[in-house]
Amino acid sequence: MDEVKPVWEKIEALTAQIHGWTPIDQLFALFTITMASAGLEGDVLEVGSWSGRSAVVFGEAVKLLGHSVVHCVDLFPEKSDWRENPDGTYSFAVEIHGQKYQGYQEQTVWRDTFQNQVVKVYETSESLWEIFHRTIEARGMQGVVLAHRGDLESFLAARGTGFRCRVAFLDGDHGYQAVRQDIQSVEKHLVPGGWLCFDDAFTSYPGVDQAIREMILENPGYDLCRQMTRKLFVARRKPDVTGG
Ligand SMILES: C[S@@+](CC[C@H](N)C(=O)[O-])C[C@H]1O[C@@H](n2cnc3c(N)ncnc32)[C@H](O)[C@@H]1O
Repeated sequence: MDEVKPVWEKIEALTAQIHGWTPIDQLFALFTITMASAGLEGDVLEVGSWSGRSAVVFGEAVKLLGHSVVHCVDLFPEKSDWRENPDGTYSFAVEIHGQKYQGYQEQTVWRDTFQNQVVKVYETSESLWEIFHRTIEARGMQGVVLAHRGDLESFLAARGTGFRCRVAFLDGDHGYQAVRQDIQSVEKHLVPGGWLCFDDAFTSYPGVDQAIREMILENPGYDLCRQMTRKLFVARRKPDVTGG
């Protein structure tokens, strides 16, 4: 019986074959927060999906709840979109519907990470978009996990001002300007009581830390800020609490 199977085991089984960065304890936290926010309006939004490891965990939660969907926003670079920088680190550039986007310019990808993690994912296909969709389809989540190829701004422009999310997981570009931009874009759409989650907060990405310090920690619009392993969770305050 699925109901009595520990969620931890379920997440391990669901993600065992999926290449990615998020370890089980953090996936468990993402699952739990999605379940706990079930009573709020809005969808789940992920910025930075890679091959779908965290996306399927969100997908499992919304499948169980029977309402809302997971939007996965990523530039989905092809293998050939990556280039080596003069200092030996890596970045990428993609063109989507005639629009050029750049990834990992300010906070580039370390050489070891590129060789041990990034290159590996392209072993079965040169297309990350295809790899992501294979992951989702193999788990029967096509109806609940929806991919958008582009950045957060292009996603929000396509959805319109009425878009609402109750959980937003920011795991895209880890540069200072990029994280600031993602926070600024998403906060207009995050419902009161909803959760913002940052990957790699207060670990080894100074740009992520600085953006969080400046825009979140001292901001009266947020509450219940807590670090859980490498992730930081913070709740959007209800306007009546701040008097706003
Ligand atoms: C660390 S990976 C995401 C890992 C994934 N959440 C997991 O659990 O395995 C970061 C992703 O962010 C994407 N990315 C980088 N810059 C981006 C941007 N400006 N907008 C959207 N996605 C971006 C990359 O293509 C990559 O897939």
